[in-house]
Amino acid sequence: MRASLRTELLDRAYLPADRSALLDLEPGAGEAAWNAGQLAYFLEQERAVFRVIVRRRDVATPIAFYAIQHHDDALFIANLMVERQWRRQGIGSFALDRIVRIARKLDCERVFADVQESNLGAQIICREHQFLATEICPRHFASQDGYRMERRLDRDDESLPLEASDEAAQQRQSGKRIVP
Ligand SMILES: CC(C)(COP(=O)(O)OP(=O)(O)OC[C@H]1O[C@@H](n2cnc3c(N)ncnc32)[C@H](O)[C@@H]1OP(=O)(O)O)[C@@H](O)C(=O)NCCC(=O)NCCS
Repeated sequence: MRASLRTELLDRAYLPADRSALLDLEPGAGEAAWNAGQLAYFLEQERAVFRVIVRRRDVATPIAFYAIQHHDDALFIANLMVERQWRRQGIGSFALDRIVRIARKLDCERVFADVQESNLGAQIICREHQFLATEICPRHFASQDGYRMERRLDRDDESLPLEASDEAAQQRQSGKRIVP
């Protein structure tokens, strides 16, 4: 089930038509949820990438998304969200694999996310993808602390082929914004 779903997944560029569906996913995020203003703000950021995850058979319907931003030697996961009914089927892992792949193409030394102290699911999936808690971020969220979860990348690690979805790397190299 999980393996077959993974072969069906695609990540694609954000389209304005996705906006309401993506905001509908957000209530599952508790305090980490973005509202319309935060989504719009992120989309305007420099060196930011927002990717929507869909199934090949229904590319118009977002089931998850990730938002990342390139900071010097690091790629920051600003948000990662899977629609509640689609969780525990490997989609979060698919997204983290894509994020790490982009980070390698950007020559980043590390990938990091700030996770709510109470969000055990996110901490577990991050650990499964070789992220370690490196610091506590006091009062990072409105009512609780956060953990900085970080994965260091070995630059000598596997060399992956450049794909269309890695346009972030290409745009970065040419000095352009990397919003898809
Ligand atoms: C965290 C989140 C992205 C995980 O997405 P997902 O598609 O359910 O993750 P996967 O199916 O790829 O999970 C892979 C593994 O991670 C672990 N995991 C994921 N969610 C978990 C949870 N809630 N509790 C315990 N373990 C969990 C499990 O080991 C899981 O493998 P298994 O299902 O075989 O046990 C999703 O729950 C979500 O969108 N949460 C709200 C937003 C959020 O917390 N974002 C994280 C920001 S870093």
